[in-house]
Amino acid sequence: MPAIDEIAPDVFRISLYEPALDMQFNHFLVRDDAPLLFHTGYRRAFATLREAVATLIDPAKLRYVGWSHFESDECGALNDWLRVAPHAEPVCSFVGKIVNVDDFSIRPARGLGKDDVIDTGRHRFRYITSPHLPHGWDAGVMFDEADRTLFCSDLFHHFGDVPAVTDADILGKVRDAMRLLQSGPLLGYMPYTCHTEPLLRRLAGLNPRTLAVMHGSSYTGDGGKALCDLAGLVREAFDVTR
Ligand SMILES: [Fe+2]
Ligand SMILES: [Fe+2]
Repeated sequence: MPAIDEIAPDVFRISLYEPALDMQFNHFLVRDDAPLLFHTGYRRAFATLREAVATLIDPAKLRYVGWSHFESDECGALNDWLRVAPHAEPVCSFVGKIVNVDDFSIRPARGLGKDDVIDTGRHRFRYITSPHLPHGWDAGVMFDEADRTLFCSDLFHHFGDVPAVTDADILGKVRDAMRLLQSGPLLGYMPYTCHTEPLLRRLAGLNPRTLAVMHGSSYTGDGGKALCDLAGLVREAFDVTR
């Protein structure tokens, strides 16, 4: 059974640890009037994740299924969730919708652009497109304006079977992960472009209170500072012109 922790009010982190990769895969369920799942997980993990979600809500009541970019850990099990939840709607970037999702998905996605908001009841999620951050043309992040939680996908990726949430500095672990992800067969994990740092600083300007991290601990504290620090780390690790 995955580990389930409430990392922010109504936001549950459902975590599967993969020992072979020494890596956690985290999925976030927002328990609200119109429940939202952010990250579907892999198809092979669906039965386990559905069981975990069922301890929190009736999976058939899911209303939104969202993610950042088109990769199997982010949205591989999308159709499995859409089959158990007849009113669930996929939500992703407009680019994601037209490039991949509407061909892959059994129901069309809502393609979100600048200033689009998903209202789940108590929470309001702004979708912020972030092309090529962390990677993928279609990438985006979601920000809960009610509680200032940022669903940041692969940003702050770090390894280990770490605590669900921490207020300690996670940047050291993130730096170690980036060293691994900038070499060998994993080269190219995160492109560094002229948009990378401005985008990270724009996210920092949201002043998130909680960073919901897909791989590793979620962070609670000064999320704006953590994002500014991340901008420096990304430049150090991925700017090949330095
Ligand atoms: Fe990714
Ligand atoms: Fe990921």
